Amino acid sequence: MKGIILAGGTASRLHPTSVSVNKHLLPVYDKPMIYYPLSTMMLAGVKDILIITSGNSIDSFRMLLGNGSHLGIKISYAVQDKPNGIGEAFLIGEQFINNEPVCLILGDNIFHGTDLQKKLHQAAMNNNLHDGATIFAYKVLDPRRFGVVEFDSNNIAISLEEKPENPKSNFMIPGLYFYDNQIVNIAKKMKPSDRNELEITDINNYYFSKKILKVTELGRGTAWFDCGTEDSLLSASNFVQILEKKQGLKIGCIEEISLNEGLISKSELKIYLKEKNSNYYNYLKSFI
Ligand code: DAU
Repeated sequence: MKGIILAGGTASRLHPTSVSVNKHLLPVYDKPMIYYPLSTMMLAGVKDILIITSGNSIDSFRMLLGNGSHLGIKISYAVQDKPNGIGEAFLIGEQFINNEPVCLILGDNIFHGTDLQKKLHQAAMNNNLHDGATIFAYKVLDPRRFGVVEFDSNNIAISLEEKPENPKSNFMIPGLYFYDNQIVNIAKKMKPSDRNELEITDINNYYFSKKILKVTELGRGTAWFDCGTEDSLLSASNFVQILEKKQGLKIGCIEEISLNEGLISKSELKIYLKEKNSNYYNYLKSFI
């Protein structure tokens, strides 16, 4: 399975903070935002990852994450010239995807929870074995600024809508999606919406219309944030700070995940950490 992290866009809702720095490089408490979706991808077991971002940000991402070898994974990069919609990720990533199933995560989405890794593995396995797609459903008080899914007691979708004024349910669709190897052909069939974007909800509606869309609920034990507004960005930072200070365990710590998943050894981590000194890196030193 391939993985794509979408980290482009203009982040105009965060201006002026994100005028000269790509939003996904802004800090969420003690690490750059991109660490969180990358850690979700790694927890799902995806080891070949494409980061799609704007042309003027690519060098900064490369400086931060390189080719991923220090994490025991492969990271490559591609440019999205303009924010033409989330669905464009599959057109830009066509060669990279190379007819394999793919997991897409939006670069500003943060997930944390006890049974998360199990659910990610199940979704990945499902898409490796069967045709179709998996989306997630997360209950929020006001879902109007998100994709919204209505589903029955058997987790079968009844309707999907993008930013509806009158939502049919309280379940928003977080920016984490698993697709079979037909995704590129399906994305090619889609037409831009009224706001001139290739909408991810149109792609999901296609799978829904073919009755091959699975909905997995992320229950109340899971925390989810997007970081698209100053308030959600601050809430995410506060959440991470509170939990990390209380437990002494880090959230979104990509090197720790690499170590736990057996992607790198302790001695490799030791070499990587040489001459690195910060609270973040000192935490990692406690593992060697
Ligand atoms: O956060 C979850 C929501 O994300 C979903 O519930 C919606 O269905 C989905 O459309 C999306 O809605 P947003 O309005 O939050 O999308 P936004 O334009 O803010 O972009 C989300 C992320 O994707 C953000 O990190 C920027 C990146 N992006 C977005 C677009 C449209 C790109 O890199 N390129 C793009 O063309």
